[in-house]
Amino acid sequence: MQLSTTAAIITGGASGLGEATARHFAENGAQVTIFDRGSERGQQVAAEIGGHFVQTDVTNEASVTAAMAQAMDKMGRITATVNCAGIAIGAKTVGKDGPHPLDAFQRTIDINLVGTFNVSRLAAAEMARNDPEPDGARGVIINTASIAAFDGQKGQAAYAASKGGVVGMTLPMARDLASSGIRVMAIAPGIFMTPMLAGLPEEVQQQLAADVPNPARLGDPREYGRLAGFIVEMGYLNGEVIRIDGALRMR
Ligand SMILES: NC(=O)c1ccc[n+]([C@@H]2O[C@H](COP(=O)([O-])OP(=O)(O)OC[C@H]3O[C@@H](n4cnc5c(N)ncnc54)[C@H](O)[C@@H]3O)[C@@H](O)[C@H]2O)c1
Repeated sequence: MQLSTTAAIITGGASGLGEATARHFAENGAQVTIFDRGSERGQQVAAEIGGHFVQTDVTNEASVTAAMAQAMDKMGRITATVNCAGIAIGAKTVGKDGPHPLDAFQRTIDINLVGTFNVSRLAAAEMARNDPEPDGARGVIINTASIAAFDGQKGQAAYAASKGGVVGMTLPMARDLASSGIRVMAIAPGIFMTPMLAGLPEEVQQQLAADVPNPARLGDPREYGRLAGFIVEMGYLNGEVIRIDGALRMR
């Protein structure tokens, strides 16, 4: 697969890693449709890259089904899906105010894990109808985990559980979709300078950066976008999770 002939859905494409991926894909000739719940910013990014935007809640079956139909209408086919929509919360299992709020745990799983699967399964159903490329490829799905899936910190029970789920479903999805020529990969980012991080005080950002062995800085969202682009083009990558973290292992 080549980026220049890719028709991609990018969830969470209104911000951060998804936005950088949308820009990288479009710069390299891909057609892009952004699915995001944030409509103003999503529309703006889509207009800047010559792509499309559909306001979507990834957790909602009807919303994603309708968005998928719009993406098909606008692009004619879907050959790549990058799931970047997600949230991060911090709460301890038992904190100052008592036990972890159950609804916060469930919401995190719902967006980060169920939302990712919801988009993936519906995108895969469309991809399975593509004419195969000469090597049999019909599409690729790239999900976003986190290094918190492996070394989650205090306060990350919900977030790490959601990302652990993303890691866990990578191989079985790749196996399920193998006969359709659809690959499934996951990226586990370390700490990237997205709007989420940019809101932290400067000294906290510097401390986070100093903990990264090499290079000792936060990740640039464009690096995530380039890795996603590489995965699209590298047809032998399948069923695996790639850490992109400057060798950071969180304690
Ligand atoms: N930034 C990091 O350091 C980092 C590290 C590891 C993993 N990640 C993961 O990467 C992904 C992107 O993170 P980011 O830093 O770019 O965050 P971000 O907040 O900048 O962007 C997330 C986007 O997802 C959208 N979104 C949230 N819930 C949605 C829903 N229900 N339906 C549709 N869209 C929804 C938001 O509107 C937003 O545009 C997340 O899954 C996050 O957990 C980020």
